Amino acid sequence: MSMSKKMVDAINEQIKNEFYSAYMYLAMSAYLADLGLPGFAGWMRIQAKEEVTHANKMYDYVLTRGGKIELKTIDAPPAAWKNPLDVMQAGLAHEQFVTKCINEMSDLAVKEKDHATQIFLAWYVTEQVEEEENFTDLVNALKLIKGEGQGLLMLDRELGARVFVDETQAAE
Ligand code: FEO
Repeated sequence: MSMSKKMVDAINEQIKNEFYSAYMYLAMSAYLADLGLPGFAGWMRIQAKEEVTHANKMYDYVLTRGGKIELKTIDAPPAAWKNPLDVMQAGLAHEQFVTKCINEMSDLAVKEKDHATQIFLAWYVTEQVEEEENFTDLVNALKLIKGEGQGLLMLDRELGARVFVDETQAAE
């Protein structure tokens, strides 16, 4: 059974949102690098890379189901924020938006009785819990150290240890 046009449109729209996420996290990475926080910048660079894998997983799925890929225009992200806390708060707000989008897509898949897409999207529902948690933890940590001093440098070192893992390639 092929996917409905509505479902394919929703996934194409979300492919754009995932690429926009990558674009925004790249911009944040550049801003953080400019502040002299290489660990934060590296963490965000990996975050951007992850978003590309999220988009590609959807791209592959649409093709597998015989749907038509329609790539949309990606808006330019902001280039500056107030400070690292502002960055992480913006990241959290963005992830909450993405969660809302994924939930709406899941609702559509249920409405359309598209069981395969429901199962496909379950991966993203779980992933969003982790995405929101990551940013929430960083917002909290930055508030705790008041975004400065020794604490900020220690957090920078900790974030610099993040390594890229393509979770879309993990066993499903
Ligand atoms: Fe692709 Fe950050 O969710």
